[in-house]
Amino acid sequence: MKETLYDLKSRRSCRKYLPTQIKEEELNAILEAGTYAPSGMNRQPAVIVAVQDSETRNKIARLNAAVMGADMDPFYGAPTVLVVFASTATPTWLEDGALVMGNLLNAAQAVGVDSCYIYRAKEVFETEEGKELLRKWGLGEEYAGVGNCILGYRAEGGVKEAAPRKDNYVIRV
Ligand SMILES: Cc1cc2nc3c(=O)[nH]c(=O)nc-3n(C[C@H](O)[C@H](O)[C@H](O)COP(=O)(O)O)c2cc1C
Repeated sequence: MKETLYDLKSRRSCRKYLPTQIKEEELNAILEAGTYAPSGMNRQPAVIVAVQDSETRNKIARLNAAVMGADMDPFYGAPTVLVVFASTATPTWLEDGALVMGNLLNAAQAVGVDSCYIYRAKEVFETEEGKELLRKWGLGEEYAGVGNCILGYRAEGGVKEAAPRKDNYVIRV
């Protein structure tokens, strides 16, 4: 219980990674935690695509950077990218997918792997190249990108202190 609360509070986004790949058992534990996220009416509309093949990882990174019109690695050198999709045929697809993202990030913290939520998965998988990847992975066009959970081990300076929590975050009635 105490450890769970500690992990939830101490998880931070990492924006600089070592090239070292994470361990298979760490990846499996993180993925399993993702699949146990709650979903509306337990429809489980999300799918997690675990990308470790560097060619595919770099392609998704390039497409993601293109959405921003930027020439950089939006995955900060992280060697693993978990792309979370959810079927838009389900009314709660976005909430369900975001909860999977949350589980992945917090599970990564629990097993000592650094992570960050990276945006623009929706836009990336609406491009022609993105749709081609969806087809390759056996996913129909009803699947929309929710987010990318990047994973790896932090390089020096990759993680900052938590920002202070805003005032009035909680209203108690
Ligand atoms: C929906 C969402 C999208 C995000 N997209 C990005 C992103 O594209 N790039 C990035 O560096 N961080 C991204 N982040 C990470 C946030 O910037 C980060 O969670 C926030 O600054 C708080 O820092 P912390 O995670 O260390 O607590 C995203 C987070 C969320 C929840």
